[in-house]
Amino acid sequence: MAKKAIPFSSPKIGLREIAAVGKVLKSGWLTTGGENRLFEEEFALKTGARHALSVNSATSALHLILEALGIGLDDWVITTPYTFTASAEILRYLGAHPLFVDIEGKTGNIDPDEIERAIRENLNSPMPRSIKAILPVHLAGIACDMDRIMEISRKYDIPVIEDCAHAFPVLYRSRSDMTLRYLGTIGEGGAFSFYANKTITTGEGGMVTVNRDDLRDRISLMRLHGIDRDVWNRYSSSAGHLSWQYDIKAPGYKYNLTNFQAALGRGQLKRAEKFKADRSAQARRYEEAFGPLDTIETPPFGEDHAWHIYMIRIVPEKLSLGRDEFLKALFDRGINCSVHYRPLHMMSYYRDTYGFRNDDFPRALDLYGRTISLPLYAGLGRKRQKRVIKAVLEVSRQFRCGE
Ligand SMILES: Cc1ncc(COP(=O)(O)O)c(C=O)c1O
Repeated sequence: MAKKAIPFSSPKIGLREIAAVGKVLKSGWLTTGGENRLFEEEFALKTGARHALSVNSATSALHLILEALGIGLDDWVITTPYTFTASAEILRYLGAHPLFVDIEGKTGNIDPDEIERAIRENLNSPMPRSIKAILPVHLAGIACDMDRIMEISRKYDIPVIEDCAHAFPVLYRSRSDMTLRYLGTIGEGGAFSFYANKTITTGEGGMVTVNRDDLRDRISLMRLHGIDRDVWNRYSSSAGHLSWQYDIKAPGYKYNLTNFQAALGRGQLKRAEKFKADRSAQARRYEEAFGPLDTIETPPFGEDHAWHIYMIRIVPEKLSLGRDEFLKALFDRGINCSVHYRPLHMMSYYRDTYGFRNDDFPRALDLYGRTISLPLYAGLGRKRQKRVIKAVLEVSRQFRCGE
């Protein structure tokens, strides 16, 4: 009998988490409630952020932070084209625009030199744009060069919003004072994702981290219709008979997370370090297997890494098959892989709106053409990882030039 195919990704949900969700379902309080409060407190405690606010996705988290920072019509935000569309589409929600700059070759993260170049070019331009923020994405779970990015932020007085959809929990050591901080607490705000394939999951879900009280207040207001008191507050207070009394302070959004998702998130949060240790061990085993090959480049480890995705790169000069054929050969062997990412400037919406050419960002284009994301998740297990390794080695050997 043929072996079952190995999925690219799979969540790890434990019996305790199922019980915790069940308890909330039975309690009758399904929408945002007490579990959210606790999830937020525990997330803030873990990351060291002053405030954590649960929301229904990282997309909403990013949108809310930018809105709270006052980013709006015809503003520009510097970001990477090497990301999921959420990092840029939220700018369009606000009538703002992405100012894409190229990535570093090694990590695939936004290149700080390119950020500074874009800012300088803009300052020298006869018609400068209003650049209002820098939005780095910690790709795959490895930190961007936050020292350099924060230096640029201070120099030009432009706030930084961290897209941490891939990067929980990841510590970053500052080169200047050696302090260790969690990603998502270094810039003005951080956005985390608990989507089904993320390092911890609530099915769909997200978290905002901010330190400033004014940002917390605005985000808290806007995540639920601009209502001045959330439903949990209104019903659980001693003035429950006045629960219908509220005011609308702004035309907000419907971005809150449910009580039962928060219960799942709390359980996942407790196991986040264990999950990470498991994924790190898998990354090390991949490195041991593929590091010595000349047909494949392996990803850098950095000082810390969430290992949300494990991205290898094929070396085209050494192989007689292309990336997509490599993917097909793995698929035929029962290994489901993925590609992160087709860069945004190559997607028709961004290309047609801003007139990009594929080679506008050469390093992004190069990475896209060569990268393959292999299965890596808590619960993949040694046996299945061995099958992935065996398949990659087989394909690499079979199609090595000159073999
Ligand atoms: C880099 C990045 N940012 C943001 C998001 C959006 O996350 P969510 O699905 O929670 O909205 C994703 C989703 O995969 C992502 O990869």
